[in-house]
Amino acid sequence: MLTGQRILVTSGPTHEPIDPVRYIANRSSGAQGTAIATALRDLGAQVIFVTGPATVPPPVGVQVVRVETALEMLDAVEAALPVSAAIMAAAVADWRVQNAAGQKMKKTAQGLPELRFIENPDILHTLSHHEKRPRLVVGFAAETENVIAHATAKRDRKGCDWIVANDVSPATGIMGGTDNMVHLISENGVEDWPRMAKTDVAIRLAHRMAEALA
Ligand code: C5P
Repeated sequence: MLTGQRILVTSGPTHEPIDPVRYIANRSSGAQGTAIATALRDLGAQVIFVTGPATVPPPVGVQVVRVETALEMLDAVEAALPVSAAIMAAAVADWRVQNAAGQKMKKTAQGLPELRFIENPDILHTLSHHEKRPRLVVGFAAETENVIAHATAKRDRKGCDWIVANDVSPATGIMGGTDNMVHLISENGVEDWPRMAKTDVAIRLAHRMAEALA
């Protein structure tokens, strides 16, 4: 059980404005993050659910913090500390538009707009190196090839404890679908989990987190 433990979950995409009516974003329904928050709640955790504009509704019985951009998500994550564990399932946009316009850009203006990008902060990396670092930090790696190798390198680079890696190449139907097939990468190596519903991945992960925090 996770009774009394504060656990942070990030979920959904972030939207990075181009102008007041346009944005860039990653594809993310928020389904996996929502399922994880639900499973943690069901084990008795006090869940802080920081979510971008997802297509699935957030669970009930958790503290929902709605954000739009990666910068807002980082602020919300830091404001939630301290927590015993954090699981970062959000699909954060790697870049934001530096020259976002304050007014809607017009088609008739001077030619095509040119967008200049700057890098967003890496929230998972920041949390993994934070002075209030949670005891257990879990990241996701959505890859389209060499899943295990990329995810293992990502675990080192980010400084998190576990990486949940999955293959999101279009042929798998995982992105936007109900199933997931993941590999859990930790200091103990790689565990291959069978293909199962995202809700079952979430339940299994929540139990593993409870064991690790016990
Ligand atoms: O580098 P990549 O985006 O593949 O890393 C994925 C993991 O890092 C996910 O857990 C995601 O939530 C997190 N992430 C983050 N902040 C970013 C980019 C990714 O927290 N700017």
